[in-house]
Amino acid sequence: MHLGLIMDGNGRWASQRRLPRAAGHLEGMKACKRVIVAAKNMGVEYLTLYVFSTENWKRPQQEVDYLMGLLAKKLPGELRFYQENNIRILFRGDVKSLPKEAQESLEKTKQETSAMNGITVILAINYGGQDEIARACSRFIEKNPGKPISIQDIQENLDLPQVPAPDLIARSAGEMRLSNFMLWDSAYAEFLSLDDLWPDWGDEQVKKCIDALSKRVRKYGGLA
Ligand code: FPP
Repeated sequence: MHLGLIMDGNGRWASQRRLPRAAGHLEGMKACKRVIVAAKNMGVEYLTLYVFSTENWKRPQQEVDYLMGLLAKKLPGELRFYQENNIRILFRGDVKSLPKEAQESLEKTKQETSAMNGITVILAINYGGQDEIARACSRFIEKNPGKPISIQDIQENLDLPQVPAPDLIARSAGEMRLSNFMLWDSAYAEFLSLDDLWPDWGDEQVKKCIDALSKRVRKYGGLA
């Protein structure tokens, strides 16, 4: 099973406590760890977390710098957590356009966790669904100039073609938008919105996602 999560509400969580937005993101990172462990224990094989979108660069520079700092410094510092929980980390998005320090940290984390097989966690960073489709098309055209492009060609040139499409995409903080998340492979994903702000997520919310999916009848355009 592949679960995709749009993490929303870090800012609201912080402002409810009169804390700076950065405090919400830090707490959001703790929620990521709880959710990863819960998902693994409940049998989720792939978990994609929407960490930073191609549109998030529009945020105030201070907030962008803080999030990039989390990626560059906190992410590789969690190696023991990945090892103890058998977590493989992969990335999806235009990571080559990130600050060099963040890129190096991502590469290190990917390499150090490559042998883990308890759960695959995919961090979508500088990720946009439209951007990914455009990059997939460019990759194909570069290899096959002048050829018409098929659905399968796009599929095979996505960032992580080996990862199955998400079964369920859920969003926190009560919002009901995809916000450019996994546009290509969300074609037949189920969707769920939960009111809890992202920093409050843990076991209970992951269970709600899995329960919701188990009740959906999936027809993929056919008949039940
Ligand atoms: C959405 O809340 C959250 C983000 C844009 C960033 C997500 C980042 C984290 C959860 C922490 C970093 C995690 C890792 C793995 C390094 P928002 O700021 O849009 O909240 P708001 O809508 O209430 O303002």
